[in-house]
Amino acid sequence: MSLTWISRKGGALHGEVRVPGDKSVSHRALMLSALAEGSSRIHDFLEGEDTRATAAVFARLGVRIEAPREGERIVHGVGLHGLAASAEPLDCGNAGTGMRLLAGLLAGQAFDSTLVGDASLSQRPMRRITDPLARMGARIDTHDGKPPLRVRGGQHLRGTRHELEVASAQVKSALLLAGLYAEGVTEVVEPHPTRDYTERMLSAFGWPITFSPGRAKLTGGNTLQATEVEVPADFSSAAFFIVAAAIVPGSTLRLAAVGLNPRRTGLLAALCLMGADIRVENERETGGELVGDLVVRHAPLRGVELPEALVPDMIDEFPALFVAAATASGDTLIRGAAELRVKESDRIAVMATGLRTLGVDIEETPDGAVIHGGALGGGSVESHLDHRIAMSFALAGLVAGGEVRIQGCEHVATSFPGFLPLANGCGFMLEEAPNA
Ligand code: S3P
Repeated sequence: MSLTWISRKGGALHGEVRVPGDKSVSHRALMLSALAEGSSRIHDFLEGEDTRATAAVFARLGVRIEAPREGERIVHGVGLHGLAASAEPLDCGNAGTGMRLLAGLLAGQAFDSTLVGDASLSQRPMRRITDPLARMGARIDTHDGKPPLRVRGGQHLRGTRHELEVASAQVKSALLLAGLYAEGVTEVVEPHPTRDYTERMLSAFGWPITFSPGRAKLTGGNTLQATEVEVPADFSSAAFFIVAAAIVPGSTLRLAAVGLNPRRTGLLAALCLMGADIRVENERETGGELVGDLVVRHAPLRGVELPEALVPDMIDEFPALFVAAATASGDTLIRGAAELRVKESDRIAVMATGLRTLGVDIEETPDGAVIHGGALGGGSVESHLDHRIAMSFALAGLVAGGEVRIQGCEHVATSFPGFLPLANGCGFMLEEAPNA
């Protein structure tokens, strides 16, 4: 059943917030633990629907996973060749990361698998992985380039050098995971560097890999050794609180122990260009990842021409940035972000439609938008099965002249279980609408 939220203007936001574990890291931790020799422990695992779907897929593939308590998993690895075939299709839910990475990993197995997803995932492009995987010798059938994916096992994979056209950590990771099973060297060169969690984690599990921003290279035929993984708090979840504090007058929020991998924090640079007041404190390394506390205070924002170089480093933060830009003085120009059109929804179109409903003057372009900042009004908007759209419109409600009703909020739990109480705990005025 569709869940509607109502977001209203409250007052200044205050307090300390700790957001759940990182989605990208949690997916990868499950995958590498499952393929490792021995038992791995994952701390601060994201209890989201996306990552739970990936855990359920590995359970179907014969991997025993224990959940001793919330946010913790013990994964009893079966080794690189120990997965068992599943007679049933493997359901990735809403998770593009789950499906794309699994496709690479399953391409190297001796058995066939079928990957399916929900209505949103079933519309997302898969040729970006199936084409380069085919060059390695994989055989994956799609439904006109979209899921379901039928992955044929028993193929001989060859290490290949890939020069990618899209900057995508999911594509890079799918190829590296297939590369574990390939004969020879698999190398991936990206047009812009993307998040390097797969590379870092492969190294932490003892697989020799060389990587630098935009490049990664490994050889097939090694083994992964079980280890402990500490998942940092997800920057993309923290982003909603960062923008909230930045746009609501009088606010000060502290976000504790947020993952600050530089391939994720483009939003901080973007907001600082717009005049935001953000301080990073206690920067430290935990489990091989940079983390720190963020202190965000309200400051008046002004529109900017967003540097295109920032786009890959803030690819998941655009829905929230659109809201920040709508409240800013002057115009914000976003270019080079066509990838937003193939996320959980077409995030350019969906944000433009929703913001227009709230009275914002916004022009869509093929690869971005021009947002004329000003006042927001109330209205009813649609999330289009997209968790980040729903949370972004919750931010809009904090500064809108009337209440903002957001339809389709059940998908928030894919990445951010517990968003509503956490948000209300620091001053949001967010509630579930009674069922009609
Ligand atoms: C992700 C990579 C990004 C991002 C997604 C998570 C990952 O997708 O949008 O939320 O974990 O590798 P693309 O690789 O499609 O850019």
